[in-house]
Amino acid sequence: MTTQEAALALFAELTDSAPAGIWSAPGRVNLIGEHTDYNDGFVLPFAIPHRTYAAVGIREDLRIRVASTFAEEPVEVALDELNALFPTASGAEPAVPEWAAYPLGVAWALQLAGATGTGVDIAIASDVPVGAGLSSSAAIEGAAAGALNDLWKAGLDRRALARIGRRAENEAVGAPTGIMDQMASMLGERDRALFLDCRTLETDLVTLGMADAGLEILVMDTQVKHAHATGGYGERRASCERGAALMGTTSLRDVSIDDLARAEEVMDDVTFRRVRHIVTENQRVLDTVRVLGESGARAIGDLLVASHESMRDDFEISTPELDLAVETALAASAIGARMTGGGFGGAAIALVEHSAVERVSSAVTAAFAASGFTAPHIFSVAPAAGAHRDA
Ligand code: GLA
Repeated sequence: MTTQEAALALFAELTDSAPAGIWSAPGRVNLIGEHTDYNDGFVLPFAIPHRTYAAVGIREDLRIRVASTFAEEPVEVALDELNALFPTASGAEPAVPEWAAYPLGVAWALQLAGATGTGVDIAIASDVPVGAGLSSSAAIEGAAAGALNDLWKAGLDRRALARIGRRAENEAVGAPTGIMDQMASMLGERDRALFLDCRTLETDLVTLGMADAGLEILVMDTQVKHAHATGGYGERRASCERGAALMGTTSLRDVSIDDLARAEEVMDDVTFRRVRHIVTENQRVLDTVRVLGESGARAIGDLLVASHESMRDDFEISTPELDLAVETALAASAIGARMTGGGFGGAAIALVEHSAVERVSSAVTAAFAASGFTAPHIFSVAPAAGAHRDA
């Protein structure tokens, strides 16, 4: 059964009827530009073939019911109760199970944006790995936002829907994330990466030409789950805000590489290293876009590696599993490799020659076994289409 069929089957089980439509949105891999999004900086993600499907039908009452193949029980609330559930207080658990806070949070954020409509039943199925740093959450938000935008005739464009998804994630789920994942999921295109200026939300689709160049991107999911509603992610965000304030600005986007000497003088070592990661990472994104245009994907390997080292040493969000995946992939001839996503677990990516996929995959698998780590899940991803209506 495909994932789309699984969403349909769940909908039938829930309602005994056919849905009004099916909408889907993908997860993403970030090629480069990590933790720069909430610093008003630059990112270069792409949408992946793994998607979340939402089969959605209209109800006769004003209630919203969500069901997921991941959960035993559906969750149902009245549309006018959403305001009592959200926003979730910072650091608190959502009042509904976390998986349900994503689609319900999207409905809530759409209502705040002025959208209204009938009650709905939403059945969700997804093949985006959860907790792997591949934005399974943005995929749920994107599928739900696309569906409700159409059924409630809200007329919002993709950027606005990305903001709705982010609001759900920040205020309903309580994860203080940036806008990258939702934008990648909404605006991704086949064989393109999305260059995004997170300050202006201006975008440019950058051709990767992977297949033509005989290259592939491997995802090496370490199976170490992460969550961003708690812990390290929020702390890094706070460090960035502190660093910006010490530099007399509201955002690290305004701090340049030339300012780093002064930054080192005015802040403690840890804050300085957090700042240095963001400032140099922004530059690496710009360099990657330039190099892709001038010389193609085979030439970006060193930038990917420098990004990983910066996250490992300065931002300190890597893990032994991610470092091992990156080092082993490089030793087995990957052109470049780095952890991707928020860190503290999840996945790394490797840029490899098509002919080296087997060699790199088995080297990483063997290295994990030798270190006593859980076996990694390794697969290749090609940049895929963003959110859309499927039926
Ligand atoms: C998570 C967040 C994004 C971004 C990345 C790190 O994926 O959801 O907003 O901050 O981490 O680049």
